[in-house]
Amino acid sequence: MKLFRFQLQFLIPLGVTLIVAVVLAFPLMDALTQRWFSRDLGLRSALVASALSESINKAVSGQNIERLHPLFDRTLKDERLTALGLCRSDGRLLLSTPEYPVGLSCAQANEISHRSPPRLVSEAGTMHISIHPIALDSGESVELIQLHDLAFVERRTLLSRQYFVIFVVLLGLVIALTTVVAAQLSWRAWIKGIRGILRGEDVARAPLSPAPPELPADFAADIRARLRDLEDEYHRNHGSSEHWSAARLRSLLRTQLRSDQVIVASNREPYIHERQNDQIIVSQPASGLVTAIEPVMRACSGTWIAHGSGGADREMADKQGCLALPPGTSEYTLRRLWLSPEEEAGYYSGFANGGLWPLCHLANMLPVFRDVDWVHYQTVNRRFAEAIIAEARVEDPVVLVQDYHLALVPAMVRERLPRATIISFWHIPWPNPEAFLICPWRSEILHGMLGSTIIGFQTRHHCRNFIDTIDRTLEARIDHERSTILYHGAESLIESYPISIAWPESAEQEKWPSVIEHGAEVRRQHGLPESSRIILGVDRLDYIKGIPERLAAFERLLEASPEWLGKLVFLQVAAPSRESMQEYQMARARVAHCVGRINARFGWPGYQPVHLLARHHDRAEILALYRAADVCMVSSLHDGMNLVCKEFIAARDDERGVLLLSQFAGASRELPEALSINPYHVEGMATALQQALEMPLAEQRERMASMRMAVREANVFRWASRMLSDASRQRLHERVTLRVQRHHDA
Ligand code: G6P
Repeated sequence: MKLFRFQLQFLIPLGVTLIVAVVLAFPLMDALTQRWFSRDLGLRSALVASALSESINKAVSGQNIERLHPLFDRTLKDERLTALGLCRSDGRLLLSTPEYPVGLSCAQANEISHRSPPRLVSEAGTMHISIHPIALDSGESVELIQLHDLAFVERRTLLSRQYFVIFVVLLGLVIALTTVVAAQLSWRAWIKGIRGILRGEDVARAPLSPAPPELPADFAADIRARLRDLEDEYHRNHGSSEHWSAARLRSLLRTQLRSDQVIVASNREPYIHERQNDQIIVSQPASGLVTAIEPVMRACSGTWIAHGSGGADREMADKQGCLALPPGTSEYTLRRLWLSPEEEAGYYSGFANGGLWPLCHLANMLPVFRDVDWVHYQTVNRRFAEAIIAEARVEDPVVLVQDYHLALVPAMVRERLPRATIISFWHIPWPNPEAFLICPWRSEILHGMLGSTIIGFQTRHHCRNFIDTIDRTLEARIDHERSTILYHGAESLIESYPISIAWPESAEQEKWPSVIEHGAEVRRQHGLPESSRIILGVDRLDYIKGIPERLAAFERLLEASPEWLGKLVFLQVAAPSRESMQEYQMARARVAHCVGRINARFGWPGYQPVHLLARHHDRAEILALYRAADVCMVSSLHDGMNLVCKEFIAARDDERGVLLLSQFAGASRELPEALSINPYHVEGMATALQQALEMPLAEQRERMASMRMAVREANVFRWASRMLSDASRQRLHERVTLRVQRHHDA
């Protein structure tokens, strides 16, 4: 159909051009034909005059003009010659044949014969007049007038017009046919060529193989380049079709990394020991970083270096601060670092969470940078680097440095372990260059990070911001094509690796109570009627999470749709976080204030619209909440990824429940089936809540099934594997370069 339209586009102008050509050609053709015939008649009449001159001379000189009659009659046998006349030099008509026009005097004939064209239009038709003088013996002369019929000329002109039109029509048809056939053939060749590229060719090798002959080489190269982009994008988003698991990650470590030593460094530790009364209790902190890294460490059996922040942490570790974890199964080693209260205040609360955290999140909180905090930040980073170096059993361990607390560590480790593979992962957003330039120690931070072999971010957008920041701050060579930065002779790859969760094992899922049991348990715990609908929020109590904003949307919903009163509750888990910091105390007060206001406005004895659960919850409790909820609301003002939404999805094996997800959370790029919300738009969020509460089960299932597939595929083992595969390629490259160098030196 498209081809036909394309051909019509060509055929219509061709037809119009040919018609215009015909119309313009007619007058020209007529003029030419007339001229040719005039000349022809001129010659013919000269011939006739010359043939008759002798006889005319004799007849006129011998005063026997009558003799000329039979001669003239014979001459008129030529069908085109219509009449003849003979004039004396004084203008008297001596003789004329019967068809000679009555009233045409010698003088008139003479005058017409000098016109161009010499034509006489009379009742008998159009005639061509020519006059030739014939010399007589007496020295005088007479003039022979010849009248040729021009009707045949007009007939010929008409005929040539017809031939011309037929010729043009045939020519048009031939051109159109040739073009259509050529277009068909070339279209098919193109399709075949493109299909060949799409189907059979290995796009990675394609540049080496010749382009199909019908396709221009640069066009084929363009298609291949675009396919490679798409393939990269696909692999980035989906990884291999095989399901990524802990076992597969372990095998990747054994094969690709040859079981090289893996060391992880993060501020937050995976398990915290606290003393409660006479007992030591262990808990897992509310941290997306811990949720993601812990399963990876279990698979890798390496060493995890982190700040020992729990009150009973020292009691549970050996002299070096080491202990085997997880409790009971001992799959990896945690090495705890001890910080003084001043160090913790300066490095953690001051520089990391008072400076870098608000710097990287667009949440209307101003960063504060103080010299004293910076000094502690450097000291603690140095302590982490030394711990890593002390843990290294080989000269080239794989070191995974986590997050904004340890930005200086990569360069510090690189100084002492030049052959280490250092992968930094920045869990939070990276701001645009203008925002980052606020940091007084921006160059030092960037210099520290560029000690890494790979610097990973949650999204491509954060990668671009980072590269632009380097461009504006340091003398470094940026290769945008390969996304690498060459700085002080070493290269860092800047790549996006969206972090995720470990998909629950089937054995684990089988142990879960049913969704109905979980629902009943949660309703019982919170004193809710059986039929109540539940909206759930699970967050650390942080100002970036948009908790007051989502509560305002809930309030708006109750205002606009009072039929929900008594039937709908909002359960908000708000895990205490960074409580020593004033900003967090204020955030907590603000949330409490919102909750108080809504409950005072819409609650009554026995009905409390919002339940604020401001304490630490363990995994089992959170799982029950996820499974009891009708709607889970994630309304972060800005978030690197946000794993709560992925945990909610993983918990819903019943394929029910609706996810409302902030468009400013990194996860929104991977979960388009969630209802997207703008946390700054209260009414918009209220409408989305209403939509979620009214969503038919079939739609819930469609959306949830698709999101479950996405999270199951893009799980945390794939996240780690992609980084480790990239690292192993890098290491292989370095080993080969080193061997080549040795051969060269030898
Ligand atoms: C974010 C950061 C993590 C941090 C977590 C909890 O997710 O990216 O590095 O561990 O918040 O914060 P906290 O200060 O309690 O470790």
